[in-house]
Amino acid sequence: MTDLQTSIGDFQFDNVFMNASGVRCYTEEDLDALAQSDAGTFVTKSATQAKRLGNPSPRYARLELGSINSMGLPNEGLDYYLNYALKFQEKHPGQWIFLSVAGLTMEENLAMAHTIEDSDFNGLVEFNLSCPNVPGKPQTGYDFDRTKEVLTNLFTFFTKPAGVKLPPYFDLAQFDQMAAILNQFPLQFVNSINSLGNGLMIDPETDTALIKPKGGFGGIGGAYAKPIALANVRAFSQRLDPKIQLIGTGGVTNGRDAYDLILAGASLVQVGTLLQEERPAVFTRLSRELQAVMQTKGYTNLSDFKGQLKTQ
Ligand code: FUM
Repeated sequence: MTDLQTSIGDFQFDNVFMNASGVRCYTEEDLDALAQSDAGTFVTKSATQAKRLGNPSPRYARLELGSINSMGLPNEGLDYYLNYALKFQEKHPGQWIFLSVAGLTMEENLAMAHTIEDSDFNGLVEFNLSCPNVPGKPQTGYDFDRTKEVLTNLFTFFTKPAGVKLPPYFDLAQFDQMAAILNQFPLQFVNSINSLGNGLMIDPETDTALIKPKGGFGGIGGAYAKPIALANVRAFSQRLDPKIQLIGTGGVTNGRDAYDLILAGASLVQVGTLLQEERPAVFTRLSRELQAVMQTKGYTNLSDFKGQLKTQ
């Protein structure tokens, strides 16, 4: 039997797959559908303190090899997702979920962290430092000093299991610098990567940008992201303290893609664009395909190959 069980710190999950925040996790109905799927866990839409409508539509478009989006953090507000999580954990003891937060300022992030710290939430918290789609708000993860400042302030009081979601990096010096910062904090996980920020696609019929916000600039997901996601997971797995585990996100369209992220060092694999297109049933297909790859290799557990990428 091939087993897809995994863990982040003391949190155990029956399946390595979960959604990427932002995809089919906006409403209670979305979240219930994820809970009932074959995913091992799920994450709520990155929340701001107050409900946000996000950017004007069209703000998502399907592309040949993935998607472009500029949603602009539409969400129901932290209280909505926190209340859902509290109800979920009461109904499903022993099942752990992730709450994602994405404050538009450091103060907002810290205020939300205080709310979560003071609550009975017993899962994991993702601090999303990498949303590329809010006009006028650069991604915190590209500002190393600011990232350090946010984490320093956060961990003066925050004691719950937490991690950060990062943008893709493209230079080895960036991996060195960011890992050196992250290693100073009691993080349980790093989620790498968010979408490839600020891409642009054009409709050839009308010569018009495919999405409306930000003049057509938006985050690119799907197969386009695979090599970048693999490189980011691999680079961080080589640099982070082993206590900080990796969640691999980006470019999963089949079981082999997930296998590759695990080979690069991921302990959980998030699915974004594909989940948007195929709905939560996708986790059943991906699980079957990943198990098939493992069987051909003679592996029965993820630990048989996790992080064991060979190089020439
Ligand atoms: O636009 C959005 O809501 C995307 C958020 C993200 O990529 O983190």
